[in-house]
Amino acid sequence: MKKITIAIDGHSSTGKSTVAKQIASHLGYTYVDSGAMYRAVTLFAMQNNFITKEAFNVNTLVENLHKIHIQFKFNKDLGFSEVYLNNKNIEKEIRTLNVSAFVSQVAAVPEVRYQLVKQQRKMGEDKGVVMDGRDIGTVVFPNAEVKIFMTASAEVRAQRRFDELVNRGDKVVFEDVLKNVKERDYIDSHRADSPLIKANDAIEIDNSSLTQEEQLHKILTIIQDAQKSM
Ligand code: DC
Repeated sequence: MKKITIAIDGHSSTGKSTVAKQIASHLGYTYVDSGAMYRAVTLFAMQNNFITKEAFNVNTLVENLHKIHIQFKFNKDLGFSEVYLNNKNIEKEIRTLNVSAFVSQVAAVPEVRYQLVKQQRKMGEDKGVVMDGRDIGTVVFPNAEVKIFMTASAEVRAQRRFDELVNRGDKVVFEDVLKNVKERDYIDSHRADSPLIKANDAIEIDNSSLTQEEQLHKILTIIQDAQKSM
């Protein structure tokens, strides 16, 4: 079977990365979590005080972008790749509500997007890749053979994210998580550079009331159909 590129975009907490990982492992493809790359840059900005609750020093972050080295390393025990910032595993650190609170601002900076899109295209140049994010089907790989756009209601998404954080032992309030989901939706969809929009040729899946199995089956069928028609 010819290797293809699979782009999975959509709103935050729609379970994009879960299904993208499942698809990649099913097809023996590489999975790339592009959101983790924006989170890594955000963590770097936080660690260096370029972004705080009071201020965001965009210029200093841009001047220091060359100091950021992001890698994905496959963890055999977990069965998926983890993200590293300058050789340090930051997989857990980037999932906190703190990083989530700042990431949309960092992801709206054109220079940040330019650098990360360049790296993402390089990661996908040999095809056989499943990449999830916001602009994969519109900007990173506009020629991807399969494009999925995932969505679900803000409440359903906030509940999923809340459960995930609580399971990890984080102390969070549901209303804060819901507020963050809605704020990120707004910023992600209204930014000037590469806003979150569905590509014309993407297939939309609302998974508010789909099980993970149903969703996986649906996407695998879309992929098989696309491969048959090639
Ligand atoms: O998928 P995620 O929630 O981990 O993404 C974190 C943030 O990064 C999200 O608020 C939007 C941004 N993002 C982006 O702008 N473009 C991408 N391709 C992926 C994520």
